[in-house]
Formats: sequence, C-alpha cells, structure tokens
Amino acid sequence: MSIDNSPYRVVSHELVDELTSIVGQQHVIFDAPKRMQDYSHDEVADPGYVFLPEVVVKPATAAQISAIMRLANRDRVPVTPRGAGSGLSGGAVPVFGGVLLTLERMNRIVEIDRGNMVVVVEPGVVTNAINEAVREYGLFYAGYPMSLESCFIGGNVAENAGGGRAIKYGVTGRYVLGLEAVLPTGEIVRLGGKRVKDVTGYDLIHLLVGSEGTLAIITEIVLRLLPLPTARVVLLVPFANVSCAIAAVPRVMAEGRVMPASVEFMDRLSVVTAYAHLGENPPRPDVGAMLLIELDGGDRQQVDLEADRVVDICLAAGALDVYVGDTPNTERRMWRPRQVLAEAFKVMSPVQSLEDVVVPLARIPDLMPELERLSSEYGVLIPCYGHAGDGNLHATAIKRPETPLEVWQETLPSLLTELYQTVARLGGTISGEHGVGCKRAGYLSLVLDPTVIALQRRIKAAFDPLGILNPGKVFPPD
Ligand code: LAC
Ligand code: ZN
Repeated sequence: MSIDNSPYRVVSHELVDELTSIVGQQHVIFDAPKRMQDYSHDEVADPGYVFLPEVVVKPATAAQISAIMRLANRDRVPVTPRGAGSGLSGGAVPVFGGVLLTLERMNRIVEIDRGNMVVVVEPGVVTNAINEAVREYGLFYAGYPMSLESCFIGGNVAENAGGGRAIKYGVTGRYVLGLEAVLPTGEIVRLGGKRVKDVTGYDLIHLLVGSEGTLAIITEIVLRLLPLPTARVVLLVPFANVSCAIAAVPRVMAEGRVMPASVEFMDRLSVVTAYAHLGENPPRPDVGAMLLIELDGGDRQQVDLEADRVVDICLAAGALDVYVGDTPNTERRMWRPRQVLAEAFKVMSPVQSLEDVVVPLARIPDLMPELERLSSEYGVLIPCYGHAGDGNLHATAIKRPETPLEVWQETLPSLLTELYQTVARLGGTISGEHGVGCKRAGYLSLVLDPTVIALQRRIKAAFDPLGILNPGKVFPPD
C-alpha cells in the first residue's frame, strides 16, 4: 500500500494551520522528514512497514483530540494514533500518511485511589511507572509486557497486551475498568468507571480494548489494582532439550498445584543469543532449552513451599539444574536475558519476522516439530521463545546470512501462511498479544471466517463512517 492509491486527501497547509492553532506551534511537526522519521515505524524490523506521516501532532487533552478528529473528518484525512511506538505489528504507523497523533504528552498519573484500588492514568504513561507509583500504597498493576520500561499503557490497552504474567494474572483488558476515549467522529465518551461490576448495556470498554486504535483514541484509563505480592521466587531451569522443558510446564501446574505468575520458555538459540547480547555466559554450556518460572504471593513461607514443589517437579521432568533467585537483584539478573530477547535477535539479524502465534497449552509439543519442518523447508532459522504458560510463542523467522534478500522476501509470505495455517489447525491463532496491525492484516482470513470479518467491518463503520482512524490495519486490504 502506498499513498499513491490512497482513498484519502492529502494534508493541506490550511489544515496544518488549524492543527497548530489547536495544539500550539511547538507541538506540530510538518515539512521536516528527518524529525518525522521517529514516527514512521514501530519495532517491526522489516522496512516494508515504514510509512512517513504528513504531519505529526502532539495534543495534550481529549478536547484537543476531539477538535482534530472533527477536522480530519471534514478533510477526509487519515489519523493514526500512536503510543511509544514499541508495537510489533505495524499498528501505530501511518500507512496512508496523513496525521500522526502521538499521545506522548498525555503522560500524567491522574489519581491513585487506594480506597477503590484503582489508578487513573493518561495513555502516555510508561507502563513501568504505574507500579513505581502505586507500590508505596501496597498496590500492584499486574500487566507485564517485556517492553514495560518503554511502552505506554495506552498502547497496552489498544493492543490488549499480554506479556510475562498472563498465565496467572490475565492480559491488560482484565484490569481496565473505565475509559475515556475520543470517537473517530470527534465525540468524547466515558465508559465504565471505578466499579468492578457493570453489565449496563454492551461492554464497549472491551470492544475498544484490543481494537488497535481503529475504533477510538483512548485518552484516560481506569485500571484495577491488586494487593502487592510481598514474596517472590524466580527459578531459572535449564533442560537438555525443548521437549523436556515444554513437558514440565503443565506438570508444574497440575502436579505441583501451583499457578506461577510466569512460565517463560527459551530454546537453545534464544538462550545463547540473549546471553551473548548481554555479554554473559548461559547458566550451562549444554543447555538445550530453558524455563524461567516466577512464583509470587502474599506469604513467604507459602511461596517457598511452592517453589520447593516446582523444583522437584522440574528435576523429575529432566531439568539439568535449578537456579533460585529470591532477592530483587538475582531476580532482575535472571529476567534480563528474557526481557532483551526481541532486541537481541533484532541486533543479530534485522531481516526477520517476529511472530506471536498462540496455541492451546497442550498443543505446544505439536507446534515445535512444525517449526523445525518450516525452518528446514524454507532454509530459515526459527528460534522460539515466549510465554509457554499461555501457549503464546515468539517463533521468529530469521534470514540465514547466505540467503539472498530477494529469496527471503519472495518466500516469507508462504512461510507465514504455512505457519498460520498450522497454528489454526492446532486450535490457535496468528497473534496472541502483538495484534494484527498492518503486518498481519493480509492473513486475517486464514483464522477468521468471512461472516466474522464482515461483522467486524460493520462495527468499524459504525464507529468510523469515513474510515479515517488508523486505516490499513486489522482488515485485509479490499
Ligand atoms: C516478548 C515480546 C516480543 O515477549 O512480546 O519478548
Ligand atoms: Zn511476548
């Protein structure tokens, strides 16, 4: 898709002047391609998903966004909302140019309400900052995307981000009790509030959650908080091979009667790449796969007892060793290789396709040999790591150095099609946490039937009759 066959109008100088009068001169970037480059891509490595906006605006309030949307409708100009740009599906890139609306200035923690156990935040708050702010109140926000030190909570809500604690705590949407949002047509709506229960009318909150910035621009979020877990143990568990490691995961839960906060998985190539990226040695030279298991709770003794059971089960399942981290420092060091993995692979090879397929937990063992088959059939590397506890795995197709770029580009679509068909056959789907964006829009019909896609298109049209909000995302191109 390029701007040449765009159904939209270009941004006029008059519109830029009007946008400037809404947000102020210093909050508009126009006619400055270099400065706009930062807003042209997300963390997808492929340069095929880079699109320059025509103008960047940085509003500070919902009222300003409302005024911007009214102008965009009048002029039929596309608007792409954007958080931190840490996404991995090309969701926040302006496929059709137009207005790039960055939420970076809306970064206030509006209220910490201890009595109601909620925090009210603007979308541009860095996710990690929420826990830093609520910790002293004995409270905890359970969302844990690997990019938590840079991503924005608004993007987490828009993508319904998952991350490393979903197995026990669920994904972002579970914690969203209320939203303020600007509709594509400019109206400001408030949905939900600080109440835990609400069945009054359709659940529009959870329609907007995960809608990838195509149905509304989120301007305020009421997030539910939990009591801060006071005890934590992290276990780093190397195995000789992938199948032993994967087989241990359900046993930890069923036999151990433990619901870990995290069960992360890394195959050998992922382990080696992550530790090399950090300039460290893997825990063992003979590691074939590794699990990172975190247990948490409100009682030290209880968590330690659970950790003992998990250690026994892992050893019985063939673990080579178990390393225990129970101080903040060791926990951080154990998590670090897992947290940096996406970045480590990007440094190793920018020519890649990072996936986040998801299958039912018990089908992971069936997926692994399929990844090996695809890897040898297509002559690519496919390291695999991710959230084994949720069946959500980051199989990453990486070009081998000796493969010509053209061959890679020609074959990637059929590799992805085969991968997606495989996960669909196993009862899974193409994205567990990164979203469809523009990267997977062309593949949606592999996993959703035409009636469901048509229904989703009608929902989109009801919100956004002119199709100006974040076009080119989610739906297959016409
Ligand atoms: C992770 C990102 C890629 O889990 O979702 O590392
Ligand atoms: Zn992930």
